[in-house]
Amino acid sequence: MNNRANFGSKLGVILASAGSAVGLGNIWRFPFETGNHGGAAFILIYLCCVLVLGLPIMMAEFMIGRRSRANTAGAYRLLSKGTPWKWVGRLGVLSGFLILSYYCIVAGWTLEYIVQAATGSLAGQDAEGFIHTFNTFVSNPWRPVLWLFVFMLLTHFVIVKGVEKGIERSSKILMPLLFILLLVLAGCSISLPNASEGLRFLLQPDFSKVDSQVLLGAMGQAFFSLSLGMGCLCTYASYFRNDTNLPRTAFNVAMIDTIVAILAGLIIFPAAFSVGIQPDKGPSLLFITLPNVFQQAFGSMPLLATLLSLLFYILLALAALTSTISLHEVVTAYLHEEFQLSRTKAARLVTSGCITLGILCSLSLGIGKEYTLFGLTLFDLFDTTTAKIMLPLGGLFIALFAGWYLDKQIVWEEASNHGTLKVHTYRLLLFALRYVAPVCITLIFLDQLEVFG
Ligand code: TRP
Repeated sequence: MNNRANFGSKLGVILASAGSAVGLGNIWRFPFETGNHGGAAFILIYLCCVLVLGLPIMMAEFMIGRRSRANTAGAYRLLSKGTPWKWVGRLGVLSGFLILSYYCIVAGWTLEYIVQAATGSLAGQDAEGFIHTFNTFVSNPWRPVLWLFVFMLLTHFVIVKGVEKGIERSSKILMPLLFILLLVLAGCSISLPNASEGLRFLLQPDFSKVDSQVLLGAMGQAFFSLSLGMGCLCTYASYFRNDTNLPRTAFNVAMIDTIVAILAGLIIFPAAFSVGIQPDKGPSLLFITLPNVFQQAFGSMPLLATLLSLLFYILLALAALTSTISLHEVVTAYLHEEFQLSRTKAARLVTSGCITLGILCSLSLGIGKEYTLFGLTLFDLFDTTTAKIMLPLGGLFIALFAGWYLDKQIVWEEASNHGTLKVHTYRLLLFALRYVAPVCITLIFLDQLEVFG
């Protein structure tokens, strides 16, 4: 497969991977999971998961992807011919497909909020008003569906036209811009009245609240936010150059991703406590809290409020787009390379499948609310099964594959670029992949099943 594309520059590699990692997972999912699980203690456990599970498994995905230079299912097939390991790749493709199917709904919500911000209809409302606006919107049978459709088409367009180059180039400006805006908003949010209560919620851990749900939630969030456990970064690494420094890239991506998530927390919680929104509101948290920040901080300057909120939702939509592209690419590359479909045909299948499932998930938040499974709506069911079961399971297998199955020579060559880099953490990496990650993931799963009483 010598004619496969390559990421151009070093910065391109980091931006593409960070673009996949940074998205709604950081800005939308991280705050609501933190809120659901009691705050600071959850964050600490989350940080441990990023360090102990996330970094080594990201390295493993990078090594597997670059070594095989194939889509994720093909990667395992090539590196372990004739063994059942290929199912790890296939499980990943399925996870990617399911995640994309509900991720594009929330991505669609950001488009609705772009329109609302642009038309000024978010101005002048109070907290109750924002809650009402959001609930009316998501339970409407048409509008969210329309937006998810638009968002999937945007993703499809990028995948088919191969305009990654354009995205790569524009991310160089947009990602730093998003970062600066997040900093500004965090500053605004922290200066709201009563913000200190939100800060306490974020920073003062209460370990008495930690239970198996918190552990599983933090682990799932780490996988979700870092795009791990399903071959997403493995697929991207298959386009990396041979001189890409894998350990450094992994470290940078994890850092950027974590900082963005913490910043999102610093925006959401002070504001939520300030206007009296419960932090455990679930998926609506971002969309009902953020308009308050704009309203409260810039209410006296309506034009500035409109411009800043517009800019924010546009950047959020773009951050979501670089993530949906990475999810779409996993499934498309799989169908394209494993079944000899043309890229366009493969992409069409993925897009139409995701739109169909996405419509069902979206309706499950409104007119389909009564249809639940295990007490969860279809939307929540997709989120829970993928993030809390399929991704950690995928991560477990990836760690076992790289730690035990893969030839140590290959691991060394990939980690050190055939000995040209000094990798001080090599032994630590092997230890983490062989023992720490598998044991931690298994224990958290067993704890969830209440094996320990
Ligand atoms: N990490 C992205 C986010 O935080 C979402 C995402 C992209 C993802 N690719 C993934 C999640 C692969 C899990 C697996 O928004």
